[in-house]
Amino acid sequence: MCGIVGYIGFRSAKDVILRSLKRLEYRGYDSAGVAIVNDGLNVEKKKGYIDSLKVDFDGTLGIGHTRWATHGVPDDKNAHPFLDCGGNIAIVHNGIIENYISLKEELVKKGHKFISDTDSEVVAHLIEEYYRGDFKDAFFRAISRLKGSFAIAAVHRSERKIMAVKHESPLVIGLGDHENFLASDIPAFLEYTKRVIVLKDGEICELTDDFVHVYDFEGNPVSKEVQHIKWSIEDAEKSGYEHFMLKEIFEQPRAVDDTLHALFSRNDLNLDFDRITIVACGTSYHAGLVGKYVIEELLRVPVEVYYASEYRYRPRVVDNALTILITQSGETADTIAAARRDKSSGNITLAITNVVGSSITNYVDKVLYTNAGPEIGVAATKTFTAQLVTLYYFAIESARHRGIISSTTYENLMSSLRKVPHNIENMLVMATQIMKEAEKIRKSKNMFFIGRGLNYPIALEGALKMKEISYIHAEGYPAGELKHGPLALIENNVPVVALIPPDRTYEKILSNVKEVSARDAYVIGISSKDEVSRYVDTLIKVPEGDPFFSPFVNVVVLQLLAYYTAKFLGREIDKPRNLAKSVTVE
Ligand code: G6P
Repeated sequence: MCGIVGYIGFRSAKDVILRSLKRLEYRGYDSAGVAIVNDGLNVEKKKGYIDSLKVDFDGTLGIGHTRWATHGVPDDKNAHPFLDCGGNIAIVHNGIIENYISLKEELVKKGHKFISDTDSEVVAHLIEEYYRGDFKDAFFRAISRLKGSFAIAAVHRSERKIMAVKHESPLVIGLGDHENFLASDIPAFLEYTKRVIVLKDGEICELTDDFVHVYDFEGNPVSKEVQHIKWSIEDAEKSGYEHFMLKEIFEQPRAVDDTLHALFSRNDLNLDFDRITIVACGTSYHAGLVGKYVIEELLRVPVEVYYASEYRYRPRVVDNALTILITQSGETADTIAAARRDKSSGNITLAITNVVGSSITNYVDKVLYTNAGPEIGVAATKTFTAQLVTLYYFAIESARHRGIISSTTYENLMSSLRKVPHNIENMLVMATQIMKEAEKIRKSKNMFFIGRGLNYPIALEGALKMKEISYIHAEGYPAGELKHGPLALIENNVPVVALIPPDRTYEKILSNVKEVSARDAYVIGISSKDEVSRYVDTLIKVPEGDPFFSPFVNVVVLQLLAYYTAKFLGREIDKPRNLAKSVTVE
C-alpha cells in the first residue's frame, strides 16, 4: 500500500524523506517520489525503487510517497507527488478518492490540465481551485469535497507548513523540537522522535516548524494525546539478519511471551455471547480458523470464520454474537468495514491487532493488542503466532469464567500456554534441517500441505507462506479431503508436507500419508513422534508437548520452509511481487 512521509524543520528534507520512505518499503510499492520546497517547489518521481530517484535539490520542508498502484498503471506520470497547474502545490495521497471522476470533470471544465490517470491528482487541482492566498483554508475546502478513503499531505511553495488529513487511511505525526514529521507508520520517523500523535478519521493537521495543530473537518481544534513509543528503531531493523522475515520468525518466542504478559493483566474478558463470528483476511484469517477450533473445543460455542471481503456484503443473519476482528495492521479496509457494520448493528465487537491506535481500534468495543513489535516483512509471521496466543488465552479465560473447565484443566492449559515461547525456541534450532528440505523441494512446481483439525488452518498458512514468497504453487488441504480431488495431482516427487501431531486425528492422517506415498509423493512429515519416520520420506521432529498447542511449533517449521525455499530461489522475500503489508483498499 502507498506510504506517505512529510518533514518540516532544520534537517535536510531530502535525507529525512528518503530515509523515512525506505522504512515504509515493507508496505509494498511500485513507484516513488519526493517534493521539496525551497525557493521553488521541486519534484522528482519515478517508477521503480526509491534508490532510483535522482533528487538533486534539497530544503528543509517536503513530502514523499511510495505508490502501490490502484488507479492507473505504475509509471513515472502516475507516481506521486502531484502538482497543480501552476506548480505551486504538491500533494501525496494514500487511499482512493471515490468521486474523482466527477471532480475531475468539474475541474477540467474550469480549465485544469491533468497529466496522470490517477484518482489522486484531483486533490492538487482542487486545492488550487480554492486557493485565495490562504493554503490552510484552501486545503479545508478541498478536503470537504472528497469521498472515499484518504491520507493526504500537501505543501505550498509560498507557505512554510504541511497540511494533512486522515480519513480511513493511516497517518501519524512525530513531534520534534523545532521540527515535525508525518508518515503512514511510526517506523518512518522513529529514528528522529518517539513522541507520536495518532490521528483519527476525520482529522486535519497543520504542521509547522514549531507547532502541530489538529482540527476536525469543520475547523474546530481537537486536543490530542501525545504517546511515547517504547520500541526502538532497532526493533524495526534487520539486526544482522538477511531479511526481516527471518528476523521476525526468530523473534517469535519474545513476541508470544510479550503478548501473553500483556494479556495476563487484562481482567475484562468475561464477555456475554451465544456465538462468535471471526472476521479477517490473509494470515489473520488462518489465525481465526485455528481460533474456531480452540474456542469450540473449550467453550462449546459455535464459531463461524469469514474472509472480511465476503462477510461485509453478506446479509446479517446472526444476532447476539461476538464479532472478533483479527488484523495485524489494524488498517485492512475490508476488516474495518466489517467491524463498522457489526458494531452499528449491535454486536459486541473485539479487535485483535498489533498496531496501537490503528484505524480498527476506532470502530470496536474492545481491543486486544498483540505485542509482537513492528513487523516489516510483508508475509506475516510473528504477528500470526501472537494472534494465536491471544485467541488461546481468550478461549481458556472464557472457559474458566463460564465454569466449563475445572481449575486443574485451567492450570494445565495455562501452563502449556506459558511453555509456547520455549517450545518455539526449541524449534528454531532445527533451522538447518529445514533449510536442507527447502533445498530439495525448491525446483517443485506444485506442493501440498495437509493437516486435520487444529492443524488444517496451519496447512493453509504453510501453503500461503510458500506461495507468497517462493511463488511455487502450493495448496493447503484438510488431509481427509485429498481423495476428493487433489489426489489426481499427486505424482512422482510432488512435495506433500503433512502435519501429524499425536492427537485424535493421528491414525487418520497417517492413512492419508500412505495414500500420497503410494503415488510417489515426496512426504515431509512434521511430528513429535519418532515412529512417523517409517511413513514419510523425511521427518522434521518437533518438541513433545500437548498436541492442542501443536499449531505454534508446526507453523514455525512451515514459515522456515517457505523462507529458505524462497531464498534458494533468490526471491524478494520481504517484498514479494504484487503484495503489500497493509491493504487499505477494498
Ligand atoms: C496482506 C498482508 C498479509 C496479511 C493480510 C491481512 O495481504 O500481506 O500478511 O495477512 O494483508 O492483513 P491484516 O493487517 O488485516 O492482518
